[in-house]
Amino acid sequence: MLVFSTVDKIRLFLRMERESGRRIAFVPTMGALHEGHLSLIRRAISENDICVCSIFVNPIQFNEIEDFNKYPRPLEKDLNALKKEGCHAVFVPEVKEIYPENSKALIKIELGNISEVLEGKHRPGHFDGVVRVVKRLFDIVEPHCAYFGQKDYQQYLVICTMTEYFDLKIQIIMHPIIRAKDGLALSSRNVRLSSEERIIAPLLYHTLQKAAHDLSFQSAEEVKKNALIVLEKEKNLQCEYFEVVNAVNLQTIHGKIPKNRQVLLCAAIRLGTVRLIDNILITM
Ligand code: PAF
Repeated sequence: MLVFSTVDKIRLFLRMERESGRRIAFVPTMGALHEGHLSLIRRAISENDICVCSIFVNPIQFNEIEDFNKYPRPLEKDLNALKKEGCHAVFVPEVKEIYPENSKALIKIELGNISEVLEGKHRPGHFDGVVRVVKRLFDIVEPHCAYFGQKDYQQYLVICTMTEYFDLKIQIIMHPIIRAKDGLALSSRNVRLSSEERIIAPLLYHTLQKAAHDLSFQSAEEVKKNALIVLEKEKNLQCEYFEVVNAVNLQTIHGKIPKNRQVLLCAAIRLGTVRLIDNILITM
């Protein structure tokens, strides 16, 4: 496995691979890799000739300095895990490689509703930071396709929109959420949960599951109300949002949902200092 830390060196390597006709897959990450990331890597390897993974904790997509400072960075462990999976190349840049001081690459694109609701509303500026880093990484790696996890479904939609906006010839592929046995969606932040919080955490998924089930006979409003009663009143959790939205444009759904509609149930809660998000995608 090749490890690159500079833009010039990884570009040179990938140019040769591209010229040899190899199909390049890209899995951007912020490290602290878990089974969710590794399943993306496995799929990327199985569907392409070359798999490139990036590990870069992007400072400009964090809203809270504490979250950025506490973000786990087990680089050695990550590199060993990627090597074991058969990943071909890893890009581990310093901040100055991604954001050179003289960079004119300050992009800000109009993403509309999909970046303003849900995560966008609760984490102002977050998607501007994600778009900027992913565009920069895409320009460096120039992959044929890139893989993203469904846990960050809104991020996946934002990246699809950005790719269309710049007319990039990159196929954006979403991969299902990988869960622990008790249902908790895997996340790099889970390691920061205390043992008590870790026991409570799967309730987020269980509440989403019940809501998804109840949508077949209840309105979106009733389902949301019942979910909030469980999370906030019964379990005393701090729920940032619990929403039932159109999976294509993330607009809130009202009333009883018609057949064949693609629906996203999504929520964010805070457990101590950790913020957890999860979602379920269903077709009615
Ligand atoms: O999903 C993530 O880990 C990050 O948001 C990404 C896509 C690697 C950009 O920093």
